[in-house]
Amino acid sequence: MAVALLVAAGSGERLGSTRPKAFVVLAGRPMLEWSVAALRAAAIEQIVVALPPGEAAPEGCLGVAGGATRSESVRLALAAAPPAEQVVVHDAARPLVRSQHFADALAALAGADAAIAAAPVADTIKEAGPDRTVVRTLDRSRLWAIQTPQAFRRDALERALDVDAATLARATDDAWLVERAGGTVRVVESAPENFKVTTPHDLKVAELLLRERRA
Ligand code: CTP
Ligand code: MG
Repeated sequence: MAVALLVAAGSGERLGSTRPKAFVVLAGRPMLEWSVAALRAAAIEQIVVALPPGEAAPEGCLGVAGGATRSESVRLALAAAPPAEQVVVHDAARPLVRSQHFADALAALAGADAAIAAAPVADTIKEAGPDRTVVRTLDRSRLWAIQTPQAFRRDALERALDVDAATLARATDDAWLVERAGGTVRVVESAPENFKVTTPHDLKVAELLLRERRA
């Protein structure tokens, strides 16, 4: 059995809305409700939500106060989670997630410490120096754009999160913490459609896609 940690405690500074980002209404529902529905469709019923101040968890979910950074919110949600050997972490800012993404990540955990949703990179990626001179062109066939859901063996995630606040703050995803602790992390192919809503443009695209899904 898996428990889900839905991180929704960010303010959404780059979106610039009045409500915290995860609670902005998107195609008729608060953004985080889309992820809750996908989790339930994947038969993941135990959901802990890291919340910003003044907001309540969706019906049937356990709410906890989030932290100052995303990883801190993950740590606090994990501490409140009921017993389960597998943990799946998901950003409320990815409302286009499908139940299949959760199922795929959990299935790929066999023989690994973490299994993370990732989309193949479509653009050519180059590395450039501070003066914008290109240093190298990376081999695109080996590159993945990392998303959530990220599934973990609970003990591996607990160990990975047991680091100082500065290290936690540096983590842009949870799997990096497992990597630096020497754990095995596997990528699971997902779709670019599962993008993170960051800017007003992203919100507009998500609104159109979710309205279409609803119709
Ligand atoms: N998050 C969180 N706790 C924090 C910061 C972020 O739970 N202290 C969550 C967000 O709610 C979001 C996810 O982590 O679902 C990814 O973060 P991001 O897209 O950066 O959202 P925000 O931090 O809200 O946005 P911004 O960085 O623009 O302020
Ligand atoms: Mg942020």
